[in-house]
Amino acid sequence: MPGIDIVRSVADLRGRVRAWRTQGLTVALVPTMGALHQGHLSLVAAGLSRADRVVASVFVNPTQFGPNEDFDRYPRQEEADAALLAGAGCHLLYAPTAAEMYPAGFATTVTVAGLSDGLCGAVRPGHFAGVATVVAKLLLQCLPDIALFGEKDFQQLKVIERMARDLDIPVAIAGVPTHREPDGLAMSSRNRYLSPDERRIAPALHRTLTEIAAALRAGRPAGEACRTAAADLIAAGFAAVDYVEVRDAATLAPAERLDGRKLRIIAAARLGNARLIDNIGVEP
Ligand code: PAF
Repeated sequence: MPGIDIVRSVADLRGRVRAWRTQGLTVALVPTMGALHQGHLSLVAAGLSRADRVVASVFVNPTQFGPNEDFDRYPRQEEADAALLAGAGCHLLYAPTAAEMYPAGFATTVTVAGLSDGLCGAVRPGHFAGVATVVAKLLLQCLPDIALFGEKDFQQLKVIERMARDLDIPVAIAGVPTHREPDGLAMSSRNRYLSPDERRIAPALHRTLTEIAAALRAGRPAGEACRTAAADLIAAGFAAVDYVEVRDAATLAPAERLDGRKLRIIAAARLGNARLIDNIGVEP
């Protein structure tokens, strides 16, 4: 089994990236919180297809978790992650400590107004400020040519695109399509919170999104289709639906009908101890 080099400090990361740059090599960054699955490995594969070297970061970022969320029980498995990354052809694992990322006296927060406010931002106050801050730091620490993020976290992707553009961070931000289980469930590190019974129920989330897409294509309004979908999720066994909405794919503004724009149907719902999110695109 091939190994992978691990660096834990900004100085060591920059040293490695600098050495590649002097050889004229391009660099991709795949930021993660670890507990890696095939979805993450598809980000590494996309990075390998677009750059000469791929760095994956693994950092469970405390500032993007609310006080009653799953920071403490979020799975941590560095050895397994390192082996998966090595097997996927990733060149370097950056696994900083919390003290390296947030040294004593750390006082800066990056907030992206508007895009951060609704959907997950409404249910998880401060979450996207935590994400934008840590991703801004990761981008500036590594300064890759391209950074890759999964479309499963669609609102996160939009927030990061805006943040990088607004702060003139010279990095291309790329979204990679969601990797799904054969039954449609979006791959997520949090799927491991599901009991076997809940795992059987979970694909209903993706199914209801495809039903909303069909309703929109049939000319039905989004509000009615989303209300039906939320009721279907509860009937399927979900404990609560945080939101099911149709939004403009570029601006995340609410959309009521398929009217020529690219739309995104986006949902978050609770099942047992897991909060699942998913989204799909729909175009005319
Ligand atoms: O999507 C994630 O895993 C995290 O939100 C990210 C982008 C690595 C920031 O901590």
